[in-house]
Amino acid sequence: MQNLVNRRWLLARYPEGTPVPNDWVMDQQPVPDPGPSQILVKAKWLSVDPYMRGRMSPASNYTKGVGLGEVMHGGGVGEVVASNHPAWKIGDIAESMSVGWQEWSVLTPGIVGPAGVNKIDPKIAPIESSLSWLGMPGITAYFGLLEVGRPRPGDTVVVSAASGAVGQLVGQIAKLAGCRAVAIAGDDSKLKWCREIGFDVGINYHKAADLTAAVKEVCPTGVDVFFDNTAGPIHDAVMRNLSIGARVVICGRIALAGQFGKPDIGERFMGHLIVSRASIHGFLVFDWWHRRDEALRRLANWRREGKFQFKEDVLEGIERMPEAFLRLLHGKNFGKQIVKIS
Ligand SMILES: NC(=O)c1ccc[n+]([C@@H]2O[C@H](COP(=O)([O-])OP(=O)(O)OC[C@H]3O[C@@H](n4cnc5c(N)ncnc54)[C@H](OP(=O)(O)O)[C@@H]3O)[C@@H](O)[C@H]2O)c1
Repeated sequence: MQNLVNRRWLLARYPEGTPVPNDWVMDQQPVPDPGPSQILVKAKWLSVDPYMRGRMSPASNYTKGVGLGEVMHGGGVGEVVASNHPAWKIGDIAESMSVGWQEWSVLTPGIVGPAGVNKIDPKIAPIESSLSWLGMPGITAYFGLLEVGRPRPGDTVVVSAASGAVGQLVGQIAKLAGCRAVAIAGDDSKLKWCREIGFDVGINYHKAADLTAAVKEVCPTGVDVFFDNTAGPIHDAVMRNLSIGARVVICGRIALAGQFGKPDIGERFMGHLIVSRASIHGFLVFDWWHRRDEALRRLANWRREGKFQFKEDVLEGIERMPEAFLRLLHGKNFGKQIVKIS
């Protein structure tokens, strides 16, 4: 493949606070050849996800960060154009979290776990769904809410970043579980859409003068399940409104992306935990990867039955990867942010 060019985004420096476009640099290399038992995949869609902020650091959290000069980590889905693996043929569709921010990638099928390569059936759903509701964000919403949040019919479930990739699904699954779903988002048009897909009520956290009071007003009997995608001031406001026996799912900390690696300056909420006897649970989707198929099967069935909607926010072109990622950190995405490559 030496006559073809692979455009790739490399990490150029570690950001101090919120990342900026110059933290990455694009380079061009000849398209690599797959080695023994490997496949070459031409990306069709790439994903940007908030976890990528954690990878832009020399420190490890649950996994190692991207080294300077290395291809930025990320998931993608594309077409197999060369195969040295008996189970893969040209034209198959491959999805993997090991694709990276690049147009072509050499992947190694057979790895078990999140770094593995999954064969996608385009008859089930458009292939880009494997980066959203039929992929990692869907699995996050499914297990995070149902297994960790443990919603019961009649519960009030509060979701932050409610119109995002994970949040929109959490709210709709909460409704399927017979709950009352409360959206917290940063824009009225996002909240309007959340209402359209089934959330009962919403709060614009940019507009609420007193966020704690705003949560109390819409959750008069308290918050039974808090699916926290943001941390920060939203977290503090909801934690002051927990019901007795509430479950708090700590899924993400996007509000703290600008102070990555530094201590959270939020209040200490232990007193609220005593009063509410709530449980608070850190969630990592990769702990549930062994049950991935179960979640995807259930999500696909619900989708086929028209039980939930899903909004994507599409940019086009590999050139726009940094811009696409930064949109997440500034709340500019409306729905799951993906980038169409070819
Ligand atoms: N633990 C896990 O295994 C796991 C897996 C997947 C995702 N996550 C986490 O889940 C969260 C949502 O991920 P996603 O992929 O669904 O992203 P997303 O919600 O589609 O996009 C990010 C959203 O975060 C909100 N946001 C940005 N800055 C904010 C701030 N300062 N304060 C409050 N909200 C802010 C914005 O929505 P608004 O306009 O509404 O502010 C933005 O649209 C992230 O924190 C992510 O890290 C965790």
